[in-house]
Amino acid sequence: MKLRIAIQKSGRLYDESISLLKECGIDLRNVKDRLKTESDNFPLEVFFLRDDDIPQYVEDGVADVGIVGENVLYEKCKEVEVLEKLGFGKCRLSLAINKNEDYVANFLQGKRIATSYPVLLQKYLEEQKITAEIHEISGSVEIAPGIGLAEVICDLVSSGSTLFMNGLKEVETILESQAVVIKNRELNSEQLALVNKLLFRVRAVKKAKKNKYILLNAPNDQLAKIFGLLPGMKSPTVLPLAEEGWSSVHSVLSEDEFWEKIEQLKAAGAQGILVVPIEKMII
Ligand code: PRP
Ligand code: ZN
Repeated sequence: MKLRIAIQKSGRLYDESISLLKECGIDLRNVKDRLKTESDNFPLEVFFLRDDDIPQYVEDGVADVGIVGENVLYEKCKEVEVLEKLGFGKCRLSLAINKNEDYVANFLQGKRIATSYPVLLQKYLEEQKITAEIHEISGSVEIAPGIGLAEVICDLVSSGSTLFMNGLKEVETILESQAVVIKNRELNSEQLALVNKLLFRVRAVKKAKKNKYILLNAPNDQLAKIFGLLPGMKSPTVLPLAEEGWSSVHSVLSEDEFWEKIEQLKAAGAQGILVVPIEKMII
């Protein structure tokens, strides 16, 4: 038996979905321009689909799991289970208007809003008690104001360059989104075992990306202070240096507090600090 995973065939999530599988040690045969492919070293079959279709395929059980943006997932309202946030494909669903226009109170009231996300937009308007006209279009939403189709757009923003190039400005955020792993609700125990095997690897890769391995030298009389700064996986590793009175300390540092910690370590007497990436991290 093979686990079937659906990923986006091109666009925002494609590259990172493929690299994630690779980093999980899953080799894929010939991924370019394929409808599907499989792995030789993991029981996995990969379907390449339009992102908008992925929640449906997973709900129907045509694919067991999928990697999809929360934006698409919540727009489609399918009965699937979210297993894990992946930390890539970050973007937001936002409202934008002409950059020269003042965004005054009640601006949206009675306006025409063009979007490919009618469900999420409708929900937002209801929550905010705004009455506006939703114009659903399937692509190039950003040109709607320019051609007189709508005064407002509701679209994905990532770098913001699409808005900028079209003379628009972001005025509200409706949803923050990133890639997630979803699964069909009724997998059998064999399928679930494979999902867990895959997730175990995904989590190890994610964790590794968030952490760095750090090596440094310090005088022994400063070690207590330095240990206080370095939690490590359990506790730091300490090896004596050939030079009397000095030690080498090895540990793991989270990226979030990385630069802060480096400064504090230097101040505490650390020298020759080396920082190296971690490939996998299993705790
Ligand atoms: C979105 C959106 C914009 C662009 C915004 O489309 O419709 O065109 O990305 O990104 P930016 O802020 O970095 O310029 P996407 O490429 O996701 O295509 P899709 O919505 O058709 O899947
Ligand atoms: Zn799409």
